[in-house]
Amino acid sequence: MPMASKGLEGIVAAETKISFIDGEKGVLEYIGIPIGELASHSTFEETVFLLWNGRLPNKAELAAFTAEIRKRYELPAGMEQRLLALPRDAKPMHMIRTMVSALSMHDHTPDANDIPSLRSKALNILARVPTLLAYFHRYRSGMPLVRPDVNLSVAENFLYMLNGERAKPTMAKALDVCLVLHADHGFNNSTFTARVLMSTQSDMYSAITAAIGSLKGPLHGGANEGVMVMLNEIPSLEATEKYVLDKLAKKDKIMGFGHRIYKSYDPRATHLQVLAKDLAAETGNSSLFEKSKKIEDVMATAVAAKGIYPNVDFYSATTYHCIGLPLDLFTPVFVIARVGGWAAHVIEQMSDNRLFRPDVDYKGPHGVKYTPMSAR
Ligand code: SDX
Repeated sequence: MPMASKGLEGIVAAETKISFIDGEKGVLEYIGIPIGELASHSTFEETVFLLWNGRLPNKAELAAFTAEIRKRYELPAGMEQRLLALPRDAKPMHMIRTMVSALSMHDHTPDANDIPSLRSKALNILARVPTLLAYFHRYRSGMPLVRPDVNLSVAENFLYMLNGERAKPTMAKALDVCLVLHADHGFNNSTFTARVLMSTQSDMYSAITAAIGSLKGPLHGGANEGVMVMLNEIPSLEATEKYVLDKLAKKDKIMGFGHRIYKSYDPRATHLQVLAKDLAAETGNSSLFEKSKKIEDVMATAVAAKGIYPNVDFYSATTYHCIGLPLDLFTPVFVIARVGGWAAHVIEQMSDNRLFRPDVDYKGPHGVKYTPMSAR
């Protein structure tokens, strides 16, 4: 019996051809394409096609794929009523986990697991998560719903439905880049969750619902909200160093830093830092970026030797704030993006499936006698 690896640290759980990470060198590739290339030249829709098909689309394929997404933007009949019956103070991550699960009841073949069916279900979820989030935000804010516009991209349409007006091109482009950067990332906890569930031959809706539950955690996708809370807590640039060192002294984790795989700079953070800096300057939030940079400098001195660097969540917080997203929609935006990667992994799992069922090293007692109640 080999020793148990806590948190499966260092365990290779499967093979994949979707994304590659070199934690020492800070490399991330989607289907072999460096993340920097995709962040600079691709779009979210094109990146999802890449993740689902293992290659970039030609012009006609991208147009057809984009049309397939856009025709699914609107919710199925009945979903809107269900959404508008939720408590207005429901938390968005609980809402989206619940409503993605509810989408399965509007699919006449929710358990069909052939690849074409899985792709169709993935399109349903990918197209409707932004609509569900925007509708819910308008509903809880007492504002009229804004119907999706099929002439807009996923990023543009989400901001349009959320704010009731077309986003500035710089804002829509920034969100699109964020969606590309957040789309996939190897066997992170939520992706692993989706694949473990799918290995029982369950269904796409259940797999994505479970993955949302995982991403919600503050050690995973929930960290971007934690970063913003931290930035708001630090009263000034001058108070930043003491704030960080005090937390480290208490062995508190600094949100947005550290990673199980990256022991160098997260390549996504490199792009998000530039995005955050530019958007902060454009929106009069430079103090937020300067505070972030100061936190990074303090952490570099204090803990970089332990391989603790900014991860994807650190600068996405400032970026999302500058785009104008409400704080409790930061992690839900991560969901919008990661549905692309989760679906790719669910399809890969079903293409060469083996039930996940690890062994466990039992450390409890043996030969214990049953004690009757009278003797207890
Ligand atoms: C994401 O897996 C993925 O790919 C995830 C993700 C994706 O795209 O799907 O990249 C997205 O989830 C990014 C991570 C977001 N989470 C956070 O920012 C939360 C703060 N980070 C930490 O909780 C932590 O770094 C983890 C959870 C991300 C990784 O934790 P590990 O690998 O279990 O490392 P650990 O907790 O065992 O820490 C090792 C050492 C410890 O010090 P010692 O006890 O050895 O002295 O590093 C320290 C930790 O105290 N440490 C930190 C720290 N992270 C680790 N110290 C201060 N602040 C931190 N953030």
